[in-house]
Amino acid sequence: MPPFEISVAAGGARVRLTGPDWAIEVDPGLDEATIAHLLAAALAYVASQGGGRARHWGRADGSAAVELGFHADRHLHQMRRSLPAGIPFDLVTRPFVVGQDESQWLAVNNRAFSWHPDQAGWTLDDLLARQAEDWYDPAGFLLHENDGALDGFCWTKVHRHHEPPLGEIYVIAADPGAQGTGLGRALVLAGLDHLHQAGMAWGMLHVEDTNTAALNLYRRLGFEIDHTEVNYVIDLPRP
Ligand SMILES: CC(C)(COP(=O)(O)OP(=O)(O)OC[C@H]1O[C@@H](n2cnc3c(N)ncnc32)[C@H](O)[C@@H]1OP(=O)(O)O)[C@@H](O)C(=O)NCCC(=O)NCCS
Repeated sequence: MPPFEISVAAGGARVRLTGPDWAIEVDPGLDEATIAHLLAAALAYVASQGGGRARHWGRADGSAAVELGFHADRHLHQMRRSLPAGIPFDLVTRPFVVGQDESQWLAVNNRAFSWHPDQAGWTLDDLLARQAEDWYDPAGFLLHENDGALDGFCWTKVHRHHEPPLGEIYVIAADPGAQGTGLGRALVLAGLDHLHQAGMAWGMLHVEDTNTAALNLYRRLGFEIDHTEVNYVIDLPRP
């Protein structure tokens, strides 16, 4: 189904059916009254299509979604730190090789993120879709091996046109069997080093407020919360 789009002079909303839930995407730069207007129009469209669960990413201090009946489901912190990190690390990584690393990467990712709302159960199509995006750079997709077997990775993403430009730790994990050994810490530092070499003065990442291990790790490496994004959810009755 093609996305339904609603526009106002200043921006717009898109309604997509992604997986089982409707995803309502609103231009985040709009004022609260315009966001409320667009969300209401989007919900009317979802209702006209038979209802169901709808989700919307918004600001933690936003009131529009709550007033329309959404409730906060997930809280995602965006954390940042300046680069270079200036913290020594000792880890050899290599870039992802297309056509070679897909299945072992998917296995590690799906073991490490088995509990995660977005990152669990990835298929080859999910991976290939990200690798087809114009931001994808294999040189920033760092893999670590132990005795020839992949046991962790740090996938980075450069937001060169953001103000300020941000170097993102996009996805990072240590295989569950390798966790707690210092690998995650070294992988983050390897990713930050790559981003610094790519000219980035800021490192950035997103982390669920419930992911205590990752939050502790990032705080110890000097990351601080810049802002928090909230996933709001609403269930519209089906006929
Ligand atoms: C988060 C993750 C990468 C950490 O990797 P790791 O190899 O287990 O972590 P390390 O051994 O390098 O530990 C580094 C720091 O992380 C924190 N940490 C790690 N595991 C922790 C746990 N179970 N509870 C609390 N803090 C923990 C600690 O602060 C630790 O430093 P310290 O031992 O000096 O106190 C790993 O747990 C993982 O892959 N989790 C699943 C995927 C994931 O959540 N990725 C992050 C998404 S934002």
